[in-house]
Amino acid sequence: MKKAGLIVVTIGIAMLYSGCTKEYLQNVNDVCFERDVLPVFVSNCTQSGCHNSQDREEGYDFTTYESIVSHGITPGDYKSSIVYQSLVGVGADQMPESPYERLSDEQISAIALWIEQGADKTTCTSTCNTDNVTYNLSVKPILQNYCNGCHSGGSPSGNISYSTYNGVKTTVDNGTLVGSIDHAQGYVAMPQNTSKLSACNIAIIKKWVSDGAPNN
Ligand code: HEC
Repeated sequence: MKKAGLIVVTIGIAMLYSGCTKEYLQNVNDVCFERDVLPVFVSNCTQSGCHNSQDREEGYDFTTYESIVSHGITPGDYKSSIVYQSLVGVGADQMPESPYERLSDEQISAIALWIEQGADKTTCTSTCNTDNVTYNLSVKPILQNYCNGCHSGGSPSGNISYSTYNGVKTTVDNGTLVGSIDHAQGYVAMPQNTSKLSACNIAIIKKWVSDGAPNN
């Protein structure tokens, strides 16, 4: 009897979970590794003590293409990729684990599609446009992808939070935003644990700063 009860509960839980499984691939139609996947891993998974090349928590290192695909990714099959499963995991199975926030649906969808398409080291080339740069449409998305994994939440890295405009503005005013993304001498190079932002992203941020860093 006990055993039967357990099976019923197990099936019940399985149904509950599958009932809320989203079809992540439906939300996304285009992805490239360097723009959409690498920054999400670096920003959300490589904090000190986590999945960087020194700490390699549980054997995972999410700082480069080679280290990312070496472990927990099944090219062509996102659903059986352990990394994907952990992103949509529930409770203690979820990554990033508490107190870090779950990735956004867009970020999870991009990773799912990237795996499904073969987990290749894809780059996208697009022309850099620094006309009409605004905080909300140009700068904030860059910070969200490359920086907020560390610089948001309850105890943001370096005590710098990019969850709000004011937090960003503070580092504009003291020069550390531009200094750190430029890898200028005297500043801590950002984003941490990975390569510099693309020349285009740096140009966009600098253009916005030189416009007076408006909250637009
Ligand atoms: C993997 C975690 C991580 C990511 C991703 C990250 N940072 Fe940081 N950041 C830190 C840590 C940790 C510090 C504190 C470093 C120190 O004081 O030695 C810091 C410090 C800073 C500082 C202060 C630098 C200075 O010279 O005082 C700025 C500005 C900053 N980050 C901006 C950014 C920006 C912009 C991005 C994205 C392009 C970013 N960070 C991405 C972890 C991160």
